[in-house]
Amino acid sequence: MSILVTGGAGYIGSHTCLELLSAGYEIVVIDNLCNSKPESLKRVSELAKKDFKFYNGDLLDEKTVEKVFSENNIDAVIHFAGLKAVNESITIPLHYYHNNITGTLILCQIMKKYNVKKMIFSSSANVYGVPKHVPVTEESPLGPTNPYGRTKLIIEEILSDLYISDHNWGISILRYFNPIGAHESGKIGEDPNTTPSNLMPYINQVAIGKREKVNVFGKDYNTHDGTGVRDYIHVVDLAKGHLKALERILRTTGIDVFNLGTGVGYSVIDLIKSYENINSQKIPYSFTCRRAGDSDKCYADATKAKEILEWQTTKDLSDMCHDSWNWQKNNPNGYIE
Ligand code: NAD
Ligand code: WQD
Repeated sequence: MSILVTGGAGYIGSHTCLELLSAGYEIVVIDNLCNSKPESLKRVSELAKKDFKFYNGDLLDEKTVEKVFSENNIDAVIHFAGLKAVNESITIPLHYYHNNITGTLILCQIMKKYNVKKMIFSSSANVYGVPKHVPVTEESPLGPTNPYGRTKLIIEEILSDLYISDHNWGISILRYFNPIGAHESGKIGEDPNTTPSNLMPYINQVAIGKREKVNVFGKDYNTHDGTGVRDYIHVVDLAKGHLKALERILRTTGIDVFNLGTGVGYSVIDLIKSYENINSQKIPYSFTCRRAGDSDKCYADATKAKEILEWQTTKDLSDMCHDSWNWQKNNPNGYIE
């Protein structure tokens, strides 16, 4: 069974590649390395003690995508490749729409041509925008507030139309909440190219001494301590969710959407305090104004994934904080030695 992983060199992709190899799947990876380094794949291969083919290529390049399908017998695709920075998407929206949407269209066209009709797509809790009610179910209103989130929603709709046109497709849309943490080996993890906009990589950089303090965005939210509450999920739990979704699409057709989160919300201060306690690292912070577009609370109702995929998280906030720091301290400069 051979699985094509687009964006496999990235943060979630690399962890999923490792889980796939460990479960006995063969994988083929395509990534243009615009937000990742080949070292992540080298380490995946070392950890799994298995080799796999890597195409350093862009989904926007139809010829390369076609080459991947003509040279390999692909059974299913896990599609991570995309740009993901919310703020950047506001600055360069056309680039986001082109990369994420056109890249997916080209991929789907080639999949259709090669009769590969099984796909898992990385969507995001961002499609819910600012939720009116928590926990958020898959039926909650959708309304992304930025171009990044809109690319995800548009792709969800494209995949839905694709299924309506041809019921032989098996598609799983996974809406991730806030992935953090790293593989327990400390060999693979999140390695942001630029100043992190997400909280956990920022905390890691404060802990390693690259940044002075965390700016906590707002202290007057309607939450237990006034700071924003999110559903942090360990990246290895998330990766395992893909294997469950894969098992399902390989045996069925249809299109389904699943929230992948823990169902538990923690505030910014909860996360900082937990990180400090578990890792015995002081994380200085100060309060600044709210960040535009942020909601007070966003956490998942993940009942559907539990019932249908038989998936649930096993790692708690302590594991997430421990494994994040373990990765950072072993790789102070990320994948660059
Ligand atoms: P990442 O940036 O680490 O990985 C994405 C990978 O895709 C990178 O290696 C990048 O080089 C590659 N890529 C981007 N455009 C490409 C293209 N046109 N052709 C080939 N490769 C391309 O991001 P991640 O955190 O691993 O996220 C993976 C997916 O999950 C993304 O689609 C992201 O939008 C989605 N997601 C991420 C989060 C999160 O917080 N990390 C949350 C929800 C959803
Ligand atoms: C978490 C909390 C911030 C940084 C984003 C995307 C979402 C998904 C995950 C891709 C919030 C606060 C943050 C900082 C802070 N990604 N914060 N200081 O915004 O929940 O979700 O990443 O799909 O789509 O929108 O995650 O980590 O940026 O923020 O106080 O330096 O931490 O206000 O309450 P977010 P985050």
